[in-house]
This record gives sequence, C-alpha cells and structure tokens, in this order.
Amino acid sequence: MKATARANTNIALIKYWGKRDETLFLPMNSSLSITLDKFYTTTTVQFCKDLPSDIFLLNGCLAGETDTLKISIFLDRFRKMVGENLKAIVTSINKVPTAAGLASSASGFAALAAAAAKALRLNLDKQELSVLARQGSGSASRSIYGGFVEWQKGIKEDGTDSFAKPILSEQEWPLSVLSVLVESDQKIISSREGMKRTVETSPFYPGWLDTVDQDLTIAKEAIKLRNFEMLGKIVEANALKMHATMFGATPPIIYWKSGTLEVMQRIQKLRLEGIQVYFTIDAGPNVKVLCLPEDEQRVYETLTILPGVQHVFVCHPGSGIIYFPDTRESKC
Ligand code: DP6
Repeated sequence: MKATARANTNIALIKYWGKRDETLFLPMNSSLSITLDKFYTTTTVQFCKDLPSDIFLLNGCLAGETDTLKISIFLDRFRKMVGENLKAIVTSINKVPTAAGLASSASGFAALAAAAAKALRLNLDKQELSVLARQGSGSASRSIYGGFVEWQKGIKEDGTDSFAKPILSEQEWPLSVLSVLVESDQKIISSREGMKRTVETSPFYPGWLDTVDQDLTIAKEAIKLRNFEMLGKIVEANALKMHATMFGATPPIIYWKSGTLEVMQRIQKLRLEGIQVYFTIDAGPNVKVLCLPEDEQRVYETLTILPGVQHVFVCHPGSGIIYFPDTRESKC
C-alpha cells in the first residue's frame, strides 16, 4: 500500500482570494493559474498495519506536531473513503526552495492527494483528486493539472463542484515566468490568514467580488487567442486589485517590500522600452514576471542587476501530477 507522486507548484494569474467555507476550502471566486516546471514536491505515502500514528518526513527531517496533524487530518478523508484506519508514513521532498518565494502548499497537497489515493488503490480521476487536494490548500486543486488551469469555484455546499480543470496544456503556449526573489524570510501573515482578514474587514472586498469574474473571462479569452498583451494587462491589474483589498483591511496587510516596488517599476519601464512584460504578486513580497520566450534573456538580465533583487528563477509552464513506479514495498 505504497505510492509516489510528484506535483508542480502553480502561480495564479487570476487570484483565489477569500473563502466561503473555511473547513471545505471553498473559494469566493474562481481563479486561473499556470503550473510551473521548476518547482515541485515528490511524496511517497505508505499505509502500514500496526503503525500507531502517522509519521511525516519533510526533506529528510521528522516534521513537527502541527505539520503532522495537518497531514493526518488530510489523510483522514482518504481513510474514510476506504473505511480503514491504517496510519501512514509520508515522505516528502520539496524542490521548492524556500527562497524561491513560491508556495509549496499547492504542490505539497496535490502530490499528497495523488500518492495517498494511489496507495489505497482508490482509482480516482483527476477531477476527484482536485476536489481532495483543494481540502489541503485551495491552490493545490490547480496543481493536479499542467499548463493553464481554471479552478471553478462551484456553488454546491458540499464542494463537489469546486475543482480545477485544464484550459491549455503546457506545450500549447510556452510563456516565460520569472520568479523574482526580493526577500527570503518567512512571511508574517499566511495567505489563509490574509484572505480571512480581508473578507471580514476590507471595504474594498465587495469590489473584488464584483469584478473578478470579468477579469477571469478576459484572461480566458486572451489565452484562447494567445494574445499576450491582453493576458498580461489583466493579470497585472488583477494582482494589484487583490493587494488593494488587503490595504483596506483592518489591520492593513502590506506584503510588499521596497524591492517589490523596484521590480514593478522596472517592468513598467521595460514596457516603455518596447518589451511586452507584466508582473503578478501573490500574498508575499516576491514578484512573478510574465514575458514571451524571445524576451526572456533581456528581462532576466534587467531584473537580476536591480539592487533589491536577490535571485531570479526562470520557469516555464510545467506538467500536472506524475506517478513513479514503486520498486520495493518496504516493510513497516
Ligand atoms: C494569493 O491556497 O495558499 O496565492 O487555501 O488557505 O491554503 P489556503 O490558501 P492558498 O492561497 C493562495 C492565495 C494566492 C492566490 C492564488 O494562488 O490563487
């Protein structure tokens, strides 16, 4: 009862910001992402007889109580599906450098869902896996698929219609995504906490909800037409709008650092110099930059020399979950 799966991280182009149900991780709005090729989590799950409790090893180290509890609660959903209470050894390797400024929860829960389901011979399709991954971290629902992915918010109370679906494969529009690191410290406010506070206190949040569907429609049309300028403009506007909702929260949430602004302004200048390049920023200070492959080198060289920039990681659209054959069934 052992399986190994890998999932890549994803970066939201139209953001998921706000939950309508915190237990089931049901979002207020639909969102859209690109799965990236460079950063991923590989997870092995082995269910064992006679194991008193779940064990979670992250990057070779035994995880603490809080992280192990999160994994256990997540695995309980799978145990319930097969009607067994076998505990598991979960071994995860994160190839998401903490310094990359990318969330590992998306790749982490997507890989865990895929490995756990396979280990229990659950035979789930990708839609069912997306529903399950979502319940570990919302953005994980999208990492099941490669390329451009939409997470449809759904309307049902039980969340069975809230899952991701692929829009365009990673081969069909090979854009460049540069992940620009301006700060590597752990952020003080998690996305989870940030979105909750925004929904509860920001007077700008209704404005987000009034317009995000329109943003998504424009982004999907741009992807269909492969219109990079149309996509870049709406992606940048959507990210700024999400941060504006946070500025209005009580107490306000400001994830940006001086380096964040420096990168944003340099990108605006690059556009004046005739390069098509746009940015997006998640719940953190680091900036993700979108450009066409032919401009990748120029954009990389421009950003990498900025005083506030620590590192630039060059990424491209990546694949959805993959499975590895397990050669040995180790005893436990
Ligand atoms: C700003 O998926 O990390 O990156 O569902 O609470 O685990 P939880 O939050 P998470 O939030 C991601 C927020 C975001 C936008 C996005 O990825 O769509």
